[in-house]
Amino acid sequence: MANSPIFTIDGLKANVEGKEILKGLSLEVKGGEVHAIMGPNGTGKSTLASALMGHPKYEVTEGSATLDGEDLLEMAVDERARAGLFLAMQYPSEITGVTNADFLRSAINVRRGEGNEISLIKFIRQMEAKMKQLEMNPEFMHRYLNEGFSGGEKKRNEILQMLLLEPKIVILDEIDSGLDIDALRIVAEGVNAMRSEERGFLIITHYQRLLNYVKPDFVHVMMQGRIVKSGGPELAERLEAEGYDWVKAELGIVDETVGQDEEEFKIPMNTTAPKY
Ligand SMILES: Nc1ncnc2c1ncn2[C@@H]1O[C@H](COP(=O)(O)OP(=O)(O)O)[C@@H](O)[C@H]1O
Ligand SMILES: [Mg+2]
Repeated sequence: MANSPIFTIDGLKANVEGKEILKGLSLEVKGGEVHAIMGPNGTGKSTLASALMGHPKYEVTEGSATLDGEDLLEMAVDERARAGLFLAMQYPSEITGVTNADFLRSAINVRRGEGNEISLIKFIRQMEAKMKQLEMNPEFMHRYLNEGFSGGEKKRNEILQMLLLEPKIVILDEIDSGLDIDALRIVAEGVNAMRSEERGFLIITHYQRLLNYVKPDFVHVMMQGRIVKSGGPELAERLEAEGYDWVKAELGIVDETVGQDEEEFKIPMNTTAPKY
């Protein structure tokens, strides 16, 4: 339904290897909205993506996440994907022995459900059309998933998956990293083509440049495992111009990262080892 919340995160806390990384994060995404989550490295952005997708290493300890009113955290990873959650990963995995085409067709069929599988002809037509849209070489269809792909090719391949799977909630984790300006524009056009009242986006990014092409409705700054500031597109522009220091100063944050061992900080980073 247009403009009702499709995705709600409330007070989410998560641990990685016993350390608390997400410290109570809340966010609501309505149909048609694009939310950007920006923040320096090590502030928990990828942890948020992994915890939402159900990566077994990330243990949710408190809070809730619902997709179309259904409890996401109760679902297994494949059920989350079936329900319409999609994550384009910051570091996509290479899977030898599984061709890109086989992987995509299986993923589409799982999403469509039993008895509603896509015909081979229709699948090939769709895949060819979307690859053309992303200016991908057709030979990537028959290559093993991400194997030997450059950073930029992996990112385009993640967007290809998004286009074919037609998710309800799209999480893009640093999709802009490793992309040259032409690839960035192509990826952004792919995202813009998918914007609709039935779909919401969470665009996680360190830099503002992708947001020149994909205009967000809301911009959130993440530090210390939570959202510390929210605004409109002008917030991203200010971060681009001035960096993150003014946010830290405004909020009295000294160290924006999360989950580092306190011990590590007792040793200044710039000291050289003593010579004996
Ligand atoms: N799989 C993991 N194993 C151990 N530590 C992790 C793992 N994932 C994240 N962390 C830790 O959580 C903190 C936040 O990392 P991350 O979520 O990747 O931040 P960001 O994406 O904002 O750069 C870091 O201290 C990182 O080392
Ligand atoms: Mg990250």
